[in-house]
Amino acid sequence: MTIRRMNIAIDGPAGAGKSTVAKMVADKLTYIYIDTGAMYRALTFEVLKENVDIHHEQDIFNVLQKTNIRLANDNGKQKILINEQDVTEDIRSSAVTSQVSYVAKHSKIREEMVKRQQLLADDGGVVMDGRDIGTTVLPKAELKIFLTATVEERARRRHEEHLSKGQPSDLEKLKDDISMRDKLDSEREIAPLKKANDAIEINSTSMSINEVVEAILLMVKERREKVK
Ligand code: DC
Repeated sequence: MTIRRMNIAIDGPAGAGKSTVAKMVADKLTYIYIDTGAMYRALTFEVLKENVDIHHEQDIFNVLQKTNIRLANDNGKQKILINEQDVTEDIRSSAVTSQVSYVAKHSKIREEMVKRQQLLADDGGVVMDGRDIGTTVLPKAELKIFLTATVEERARRRHEEHLSKGQPSDLEKLKDDISMRDKLDSEREIAPLKKANDAIEINSTSMSINEVVEAILLMVKERREKVK
């Protein structure tokens, strides 16, 4: 008998290291990594490209209905495709980053995204990161992590990342942007950023990425032993 592979939900605020951690955990377990933020970003990119008003729910929904968003693995690197066109870099632009929380506020948009995300996790063996995975998308996930860090630390990490890529970066502006996104993501009416009751909180402020990954892998091991 083969045991169904578990689903792992990783939620938390912007810049807490969710995607790096989720991807590493997925690689170690040979699970599929699903970046749900990238799905909202892809839609935002398309909405901006088509000059659709980000406050107009039905117009955005119409765009979503004709938009196929595919997360593909390209030699260990995740690629995001819109209708088979590679937008992996485009969805990280500051234009998309500053608008995505507004697009992600609409209930019709979230409902459709949640459906798509649930389908991807149907067979188990998924590490999914986002804001509402443990509470709404995968309420039955076998392991739920809520990953946090202080605003200062999250801004500092983004700053280092930009500098290491040779990109211009302003630490104070990053702090303001992250605080603003925290506020929008936590205060929205539908599926706000919130720790699920049964999620385990990891504050990564003074932890390395590897330490966080190891802590999660240990929890996976413990859970596997319990169901044996
Ligand atoms: O994780 P990220 O920064 O790429 O996410 C981009 C935005 O998408 C973020 O500001 C909030 C939104 N988001 C969401 O509302 N629900 C999710 N499950 C994932 C992201």
